Amino acid sequence: MKPIQIAIDGPAAAGKSTIAKIVAEKLGYVYIDTGAMYRAITMKALAKGINMASNEEAGKLLAETEIDLQPSEDGQLVFLDKQNVTEAIRSQNVTKAVSEMAAHELVRMRMVELQQQLAEGRGVVMDGRDIGTHVLPDAALKVFMSASVEERARRRFVENQKRDILTSLEELQAEIAKRDKMDSEREVAPLRQAEDAIYLDTTTLTIEQAAQEILKLAEERLV
Ligand code: DC
Repeated sequence: MKPIQIAIDGPAAAGKSTIAKIVAEKLGYVYIDTGAMYRAITMKALAKGINMASNEEAGKLLAETEIDLQPSEDGQLVFLDKQNVTEAIRSQNVTKAVSEMAAHELVRMRMVELQQQLAEGRGVVMDGRDIGTHVLPDAALKVFMSASVEERARRRFVENQKRDILTSLEELQAEIAKRDKMDSEREVAPLRQAEDAIYLDTTTLTIEQAAQEILKLAEERLV
């Protein structure tokens, strides 16, 4: 069976990465979390104190940065200039700043190039905001996954608790809504559903049910 490319897009904390990981594992495909790449460059920009509002400065920083994704038993590992930053990129500081960094054209151009290289010629499940619209426009299966903002905040709250990150539910809901707005309203490759994507509302679905739904759609496309 010829491997296919599966693109999963949607707003923050809709369950994309958890579900994409399960789907990739079941199919024996590589899972690629593109948000992690934007988070990694944001972490470096914060550490270096560069002007986050500048497309040129952000682009220059990325040009001299190495971002590497490696699969492991515990999921995808993220390396920034050879340093393992898998956990560090999930901090609240990075989460708050990432949408500004991800809006820059020079950053997106380079990231799309890297992501297309990572996906070339193999079975992949890739999640992000512009995968179906820009990174993998010919993906055999495109899913746009969402859930109510209340449910997404609740899920992120539980996840943060497990990581010992302290945030209130209200703060999380406001942060998620703000990030969605910035990601949807930016000029370059905004978050939106590709015309040929299937909409999946996970508000009332369990992780397993959502993964099953995508696996069913993938099987229909495997020949
Ligand atoms: O999926 P995430 O929350 O880790 O993504 C972090 C941010 O990166 C998100 O707010 C928007 C941006 N992003 C993007 O613009 N395009 C992608 N393909 C993936 C993420």
